[in-house]
Amino acid sequence: MNYKLEIAKHMAPLIEGMEEAEILEGIEYPKNKEMGDFAYPCFRLAKTFRKAPQIIASELAEQLKGLEFLESVEAISGFLNFRISAAHFAKTTLEAVIADGADYGKQALGTEKPVIIEYSSANIAKPFHMGHIRSTMIGESLKRIYDFLGYKTVAINHLGDYGTQFGKLIVAYKRWGDDEALKATPIRELLRIYVKFHAEAETEPALEDEARQWFVKLEGGDEEATRLWTLFKEMSLKAFGKTYDMLGVSFDSYAGESFYTDKMPEILTLLREKGLLKKSEGAEIVDLEPYGMPPALVTKSDGSTLYLTRDLAAAKYRKDTYDFAKNIYVVGAAQRLHFQQWFKVIELMGYPWYADLVHVDFGMVSLESGALSTRKGNVTFLDDVLEKAVEQTKSIIEEKNPNLNNKEAVAKAVGVGAVVFQELYTSRTKDYTFIMEKTLSFEGETGPYVQYTHARACSVLRKTDFTANDATGVDFALLSDEASRDVVRTLSKFSEAVVTAHENYEPHTVARYVVDLAQKFNRFYHDNAIIVEDEALKKARLALVYAVKTVLASGLNLVCLEAPEQM
Ligand code: ARG
Repeated sequence: MNYKLEIAKHMAPLIEGMEEAEILEGIEYPKNKEMGDFAYPCFRLAKTFRKAPQIIASELAEQLKGLEFLESVEAISGFLNFRISAAHFAKTTLEAVIADGADYGKQALGTEKPVIIEYSSANIAKPFHMGHIRSTMIGESLKRIYDFLGYKTVAINHLGDYGTQFGKLIVAYKRWGDDEALKATPIRELLRIYVKFHAEAETEPALEDEARQWFVKLEGGDEEATRLWTLFKEMSLKAFGKTYDMLGVSFDSYAGESFYTDKMPEILTLLREKGLLKKSEGAEIVDLEPYGMPPALVTKSDGSTLYLTRDLAAAKYRKDTYDFAKNIYVVGAAQRLHFQQWFKVIELMGYPWYADLVHVDFGMVSLESGALSTRKGNVTFLDDVLEKAVEQTKSIIEEKNPNLNNKEAVAKAVGVGAVVFQELYTSRTKDYTFIMEKTLSFEGETGPYVQYTHARACSVLRKTDFTANDATGVDFALLSDEASRDVVRTLSKFSEAVVTAHENYEPHTVARYVVDLAQKFNRFYHDNAIIVEDEALKKARLALVYAVKTVLASGLNLVCLEAPEQM
């Protein structure tokens, strides 16, 4: 039952000239729960009634009294404060969770047309470092959230598999490459020669020219260049695949930058036909000065295309292929200008769907040891971090629960989950510093804390053999204490949290939600014995435990964490 809607329905006939939907919009959650479960600020009605808000509130409270789902309705400082009857609230909420199970909170907001979510987009032949995890996890979580709300999604990994850095790698490989090392630890070897290239180029600038020429050859389909590029790409994809498996991430398409090579001429022709291209020192640009931005560089003086050109071609291709409702790019805030520039070019090309392109940006991740830089070789490999997290979790398990079944699987779920949760718990626009110890803590606002709470709920249910079928004939009035009410109120807000997360492209909202639910549940668990003599009380409390474990598992899944039943 949607109480906001129910309240709006009953208020509408009492307020002339105001539709139910408008009233609904005004209903809030009071900051302080002592004030009730829902509130309506009556200053919004001052114009209609031509009275002081407090008087309006008192009159409306009088008229709304006695609704069967209300415990009370009061007028306080110009607000109407509603308190839902505990039994009613618990009944409608818990029954819905138990009946719907993993579907509880789902909605059908999606349209016929799909939503494209582009994320991760790691660079071939470069390490998958800590900086990439944010795009990867925010994107994967958004995909799950959009799916949950009934959208059709297409997950695309716009691999960085093209560009001048491949010229550099070819030069470096020909000079310093070690085939043995390349076979054994491909990405580390590629990083080694890439770093060496930059170090050597400082004293031998001719290397840069050589690299540019190799890239031009690659664009021209040169046999040797293509062979080496393919080798680098295959090795990288294999390594990335392992990391993605570990993280539980998957894509519908790996069409990266190189995929658009043969689609370049078309986009250049279109730009030319629309009169948007200007020559500038041998290069071609789109002038964006009228819009307060530097020019968009489309071709270089040697005729090769650029990152931005490939983005133009990719967007056009995606529109033609998928006819997307929205095309979301999960890419760091450092590229904000890049996206503003080429979104503007799409607009200038006369495509109305420029308005459906969304750059979902995020702040930087740094490590305690400082910022990350591939060129200088100052990278922390994501795989190393994940492995370390799993190892540490294993030793915690050995210490706390040595008889646990499935130790390996649980250590992976919790160790990897801890790192992932840390990513998503920080609101995406904030920069943050990754600290392993904090991440793995079973206390505080962490992944392991939520997973542990879920496992604790599972354990209570296991001990009592309680299943969904046992949740009949429950006396919901027995759940009237404040701790139980808090849990019920929080459960009822799950769907809203997911909807808000999708509106703001912010998985953090769901991560916060599961922490909140876990905290409320732990208070309930601390205050109330569950396995008690009184059968009716035991049943009511178990129904609540069951609902909590159901919603915690759903919420964890939306932020890409597994929910082991035992820990
Ligand atoms: N590969 C790029 C990088 O690591 C990110 C690609 C972002 N997506 C895009 N369509 N430009 O910086």
